[in-house]
Amino acid sequence: MSSLPAPSRLGPKVLLGISAGIAAYKSAMLARLLKQAGCEVRVVMTEGAQAFITPLTLQALTGEPVRTSLLDPEAEAGMGHIELARWADTILIAPATADLMARLAAGMADDLLTTLCLASEARKVMAPAMNQAMWAHPATRRNAARLMDDGWHLLGPASGDQACGDVGPGRMLEPEAILKALLTAPTPAPGASEAAGLTVTITAGPTREPLDPVRYLSNHSSGKMGYALAEAAAALGARVQLISGPVALACPEGVERITVETALEMHEVATRLAPASDIFIGCAAVADYRAESAAEHKLKKTEGEAGLVLRLIQNPDIIASVAALPTASRPLVVGFAAETRDLEGYARDKLARKGLDMIVANDVSREGLGFGSDNNAALVLWGDGQENLAPQPKRELADAVMRHALARLAARPTR
Ligand code: PMT
Repeated sequence: MSSLPAPSRLGPKVLLGISAGIAAYKSAMLARLLKQAGCEVRVVMTEGAQAFITPLTLQALTGEPVRTSLLDPEAEAGMGHIELARWADTILIAPATADLMARLAAGMADDLLTTLCLASEARKVMAPAMNQAMWAHPATRRNAARLMDDGWHLLGPASGDQACGDVGPGRMLEPEAILKALLTAPTPAPGASEAAGLTVTITAGPTREPLDPVRYLSNHSSGKMGYALAEAAAALGARVQLISGPVALACPEGVERITVETALEMHEVATRLAPASDIFIGCAAVADYRAESAAEHKLKKTEGEAGLVLRLIQNPDIIASVAALPTASRPLVVGFAAETRDLEGYARDKLARKGLDMIVANDVSREGLGFGSDNNAALVLWGDGQENLAPQPKRELADAVMRHALARLAARPTR
C-alpha cells in the first residue's frame, strides 16, 4: 500500500457509511485501506448494517467510535451530527443498498447516515451492492440517475457471482478498486462543463454469444476505447451511461455502467436508453452473429465426431436501430468502424448505410493500435468533413472524438 499516491483527491477526512448488504464485511478492509492511504476515517453504520458486521470491528480498525444512531445523546455530546457532516471531505458509502439509494434519492433524513448526507457539502461517492434484479429494476435505475444528477459519483457495481446465487451486475467493487477509483479520479478542469446537462450513452467492449453453458463466440475488444470515451465525456460534465460488454476494467468515476453479455442484451439496453440521450456512441465490437440455439448442456466431444456444424444467425444492428429512431427522440449517433483495409471506403459505406452522423474509423491491423492496446489512431468522418487523428493514447483520442461529437451536436437543428 505504500505505493499508493497521496490522498489529495480524496481529502484526508473520509466518512465511511455502511448499509445493510452482505458486502458490508468488505467495508472492514476498505476502512483499513483508507487508513493506510493516510485518511482519517469515521464510520457510520445503518441499523441493518450491524446485522452483517459489528461496530466494534470498525472501531478497532479506525481507532474511532462508530456512530449508529441519530438520537444518541452521548455521541451527540462528542461530535454532533451536523459537526460530523461538516467534518467530512468525502462521504463514501460502501455498500450502498437499493433501499439506501432510494432514501437518498428521495432526500430523506430518517437515520443518521441519510441525515449526514443531506447536511454535508462533502464530495459524495457510493459503491452500490445488491441483487442483480434489484439493480436492473426501473426504480433503482431512476434512483441511480437522480443521485448522479444530485452530484453523487457511483462506483460500480461489478458483475459476477452473487451471494444469493444469481449471476449479473450488482456486486460491490472490491475495496482496492474503490480506493483506486477514489484516488486516481481525474480532477475536472475548471470550467470543464461543455457537456453539462447532456446525457451521453456509450457502448463498449465485446459481446459474448453463448454456444453452450461453457463456450461462447466473442472478439478481442478490451473495452479500453469505450471506457476512455466514457471518462472523456464525464470529464466534460456529461451524465454518462456506459453499456459495457464483459471486460476487465473498473467503471470510471461518475459513470453509470450497465453490464451486458450478449448483443441482444446490449440491443435491449441501448434502444431503451438512447431516446433520452443527446449523444449515442457505438464503440462496442458487437458480434454480428449468434448461435441459432445455444445448447442447454455442455457439448460433448463425441457429439461432433463427424464434425460439428454451427448454425449462426444475424444479431440486430444496434447502432442502426438507434439511428433509425424518430427525429424527436433520436440522439446524435456516432459509430466506430474497425477495418483492416480500405479504411475510408468501408467507413463511408457504414456512415451512410447505418444512417450515422459521424464515424470514427480505425485500422485494427496496425501494430500497437486498435484492439487491446492503450493507443489508437483514427479517421473521423462526418457529412462534409473529416479529420485524421494521429496515433495517441486512447484517452486523448477520446477527448478529440468528444470535441467532434459536441461540435456536430451544436451544428444540428434542435429536435
Ligand atoms: O475495446 P478496445 O480493445 O479498446 O478496441 C477498440 C475497438 C477497436 C473495438 C474500437 O475502436 C472499435 O473500432 N469499435 C467498433 C468495432 C466494430 O464492431 O466495428 P464494425 O465496423 O464491425 O461496426 C460498425 C459500427 O456498428 C460500430 O459502431 C459497432 O458498435 C456497430 N455495430 C456493429 C454490429 C452490430 N450488430 N451492432 C452495432 O451496433
